[in-house]
Amino acid sequence: MKNLEQNIKIFEQELKDALQSATSYEQIEKVRVDFLGRKGKINEIMGQMKSLDLEEKRIFGPKINQLKQISEQLYEEKKKQLEEDQKKIEILKKQNFDVGAYKPTQLRGTLHVITKLVDQLEDIFISMGYQVADGPELETEYYNFDALNIPKDHPSRDSRDTFWFDIPGLLMRTETSAIQIRAMEEQGVPIALVGPGKVYRNEATDASHNFIFGQIEGLMVGKDISMGNLIETIKVFLQRLFNTENLKIRVRTCFFPFVEPGIEFDFSCPFCKTGCSTCKRTKWIELGGAGLVHPNVLKYCKIDPKKYSGFAFGFGIERMAMIKYGISDIRLFHSASIDFLNQF
Ligand code: PHE
Repeated sequence: MKNLEQNIKIFEQELKDALQSATSYEQIEKVRVDFLGRKGKINEIMGQMKSLDLEEKRIFGPKINQLKQISEQLYEEKKKQLEEDQKKIEILKKQNFDVGAYKPTQLRGTLHVITKLVDQLEDIFISMGYQVADGPELETEYYNFDALNIPKDHPSRDSRDTFWFDIPGLLMRTETSAIQIRAMEEQGVPIALVGPGKVYRNEATDASHNFIFGQIEGLMVGKDISMGNLIETIKVFLQRLFNTENLKIRVRTCFFPFVEPGIEFDFSCPFCKTGCSTCKRTKWIELGGAGLVHPNVLKYCKIDPKKYSGFAFGFGIERMAMIKYGISDIRLFHSASIDFLNQF
């Protein structure tokens, strides 16, 4: 009997402690199950009643009922208190709501499609033994025109085609070919490099022209470098880029002041056999210009054209990306459109 009385006291204290330390609905629910549930402690105490005699039952019956009531009351009070605390927190949250801290979705940045393509182009040429060279976008007339054997009266020097600075002799480079001059001057021969970079042309924009775009220049100078080496190099590079052995090159003569002879090159469409929208149903895709480095250019770089020869080629990087990914408007690359960029 004494035992039972003690158990009641212990029960009450334990219940109070458990409720006090509970801080969430889940925790007080656990307390309810442990103490007041069907298999809980209070039913255990009630079970102990069975072994009491009638007189004792008369005394303890009401005590246990009272204990049950008090326990339920304590539980309800705690529940109410939690609800009120929760409401206060909600109010505080609203009062202290920081609009600046609101982040609807976390956008993950990635490399730009052009950056990824340049990395891939560089990797292919590095694997073929080329180095990657660089040069300034703000160039001098000497490197951009004179040393490239471009005549003083050439239309590309006109300010309708070139962004000139107010300071005479300074311009935004119009082609990456300027990179080859600097590299040959610094390193001499033999040399094999690719130079990717931005170029600037003062012209109207449309779906296939932009006043700023990327180009990649290729240059190899050494002993007995021939047109055959040039064509094979372009072919192997394109086969690797498009991951197919089945790719041919076609060339046409063309004039560029810094090469002699000069060519324009096309490659067989890697996407179709019978004509598609990328090759405009011709089965051939135009890519860029190339040729054997003009003796005058070698002379500007203090390389003897009687001993050495070389080839150079160049093409537009956005144009290559448009071909590779089937993009119809060059302006998309610099549009900062997330929908466009997310596709890559
Ligand atoms: N720089 C030329 C252009 O902008 C391309 C080119 C590079 C042609 C090298 C020949 C040799 O069109």
